[in-house]
Amino acid sequence: MTEHYPVMKGYVVQYLNLKDGGIYIDATCGYGGHSRYILETNSNILLYGMDKDEDAIRYISNALADFKNFKAIHSGYEEMDRVLEKEGIEKVDGILMDLGFSTNQIKDGERGFSFQIEGPLDMRYDRRNNLTAGEIINRWSRKEIIWLFENYGEVKKSHRIVDAIIERRKKKKFETTTELADFIAKYYRRYGKIHPATKFFMALRIAVNNEIDVLKEGLRKAVSLLKTDGRLVVISFHSIEDRTVKYFFRNNCQLNVLTKKPVLPDTEEIRINPESRSAKMRACEKT
Ligand SMILES: C[S@@+](CC[C@H](N)C(=O)[O-])C[C@H]1O[C@@H](n2cnc3c(N)ncnc32)[C@H](O)[C@@H]1O
Repeated sequence: MTEHYPVMKGYVVQYLNLKDGGIYIDATCGYGGHSRYILETNSNILLYGMDKDEDAIRYISNALADFKNFKAIHSGYEEMDRVLEKEGIEKVDGILMDLGFSTNQIKDGERGFSFQIEGPLDMRYDRRNNLTAGEIINRWSRKEIIWLFENYGEVKKSHRIVDAIIERRKKKKFETTTELADFIAKYYRRYGKIHPATKFFMALRIAVNNEIDVLKEGLRKAVSLLKTDGRLVVISFHSIEDRTVKYFFRNNCQLNVLTKKPVLPDTEEIRINPESRSAKMRACEKT
């Protein structure tokens, strides 16, 4: 296991505006890249790390054990109000949400996030949940699958492939990631370097984890937990997430948007960490 490369870490601490004695939440701490950087930038804060992934929480609890002002908690950020209540905390100074999956999750075939590594059709961040990608692809109706490919994957005219999936699953259920990816590749041409399965896998992952509803709930809770002048920083990796964050910030009268346009990684960061190229960061302050 390695720590995830923390995307735009310099901007993250700049926009979080770390204050001595402040309480902060890394709501998607994963394998601890941002958390470590935040703790190294200001040792005089209290930081809570949360993640849905139990493996990540186990890892980060050990990796950051030397920081006595850090605590990792296995929970979804949409539950952050309950988590903080248990900790006896009412309001916080800043919250970071770095959305999506981590490098460790995608590299671990068993988690089923990657179409390039063979593994079960899983894709759950939290393995206590029942819904998996296999369940969707093998059991959901034609209409439901078309809806999710078109809305979450932004795939146009997905009827043909969904009909083929329905026919194929009558004979044999889809079991692995690579089996599904190869099947999709037979129907869709590759554009440039992008594998045709990319958008379908993204759509499945969003549906498995109910990511858009969960994000809206998480944003609402984050704002309600911020002190006046508290900061919320969100990094997203695809347009549906970014649009959700942008309109949430814009339509919330309690928020002063600090990033009129999203902040993007610079060319040097993209060179070192090519996965960062689609990242967009937005930040706001509670007024
Ligand atoms: C991009 S990674 C975060 C990486 C982290 N910032 C770092 O620097 O190491 C996203 C993380 O969000 C977690 N996640 C996804 N949905 C979540 C949710 N609703 N609540 C908490 N964590 C979530 C995933 O399990 C994953 O570990």
